[in-house]
Amino acid sequence: MAPETAGGDPGTGGAALPRHVAIIMDGNGRWAKKRFLPRFAGHKAGVEAVRTVTRAARAMGIEALTLYAFSSENWRRPEEEVSDLMGLLRVFIRSDIEELVRENVRLRVIGEYRRFSADLVKMVDDAIARTAANTGPILVIALNYGAQAEIAAAARSLARRAVANQLSVEAIDEAAIERELDTRDLPPLDLLIRTSGEVRLSNFLLWQAAYAELLFVDTLWPDFDGAALAAAVATFGQRQRRYGGL
Ligand code: IPE
Ligand code: IPE
Ligand code: MG
Repeated sequence: MAPETAGGDPGTGGAALPRHVAIIMDGNGRWAKKRFLPRFAGHKAGVEAVRTVTRAARAMGIEALTLYAFSSENWRRPEEEVSDLMGLLRVFIRSDIEELVRENVRLRVIGEYRRFSADLVKMVDDAIARTAANTGPILVIALNYGAQAEIAAAARSLARRAVANQLSVEAIDEAAIERELDTRDLPPLDLLIRTSGEVRLSNFLLWQAAYAELLFVDTLWPDFDGAALAAAVATFGQRQRRYGGL
């Protein structure tokens, strides 16, 4: 693979833009706590940040934005908080679907969201269907997503085909695994951002992050805005990607 620098298209003089940005939106609870507010207020403010940042990503010309909204481990939270988060997802779909349709955004979901309640699954499916014919930027929401489960599901699917003699064991390579992942149709992940100062991946896009640039910022998610995204993209533009080469 040819070495690739993230820095700059000489033709335009602009810094390289990541094609696919993913964000671990963390810090809603701490944002609320600092203001002596219930955690729910932090999640609500977090939805506002989702709106702001998706608009900014669109304006910047980022092809795909993946947002970690609910992890497969978040079921461990108190029932009330889980139900608050589901409620906010409903609110977001209801209030924002028209804008996504109008703005030519393709909405996608990764993760095992079919484990959610039937009416919410239907809402999500309807929203995806409404944007399916769009041709513009892709907004991916990770719902009940866990990277290890995603990779295990890929392994099961390949094993099933191998056992049925539809696939030779030798054909199971990186590309074959990639074709089984939820992200199969997305551009390669270029930039992975986590807010709130935590420095871990929390089971997010483990396979896809192999050569992504990682950026950990202290900003709490509800405070992350268009300027913060622009700063992250500028930092990405300064990184040198070597992929093991020189
Ligand atoms: C991120 O904020 C939102 C979700 C995980 C859904 P947190 O709720 O994790 O906020 P902190 O980490 O407690 O501050
Ligand atoms: C990761 O944040 C999941 C989402 C942002 C949806 P968490 O707050 O759940 O992660 P941990 O528990 O700190 O690892
Ligand atoms: Mg957190």
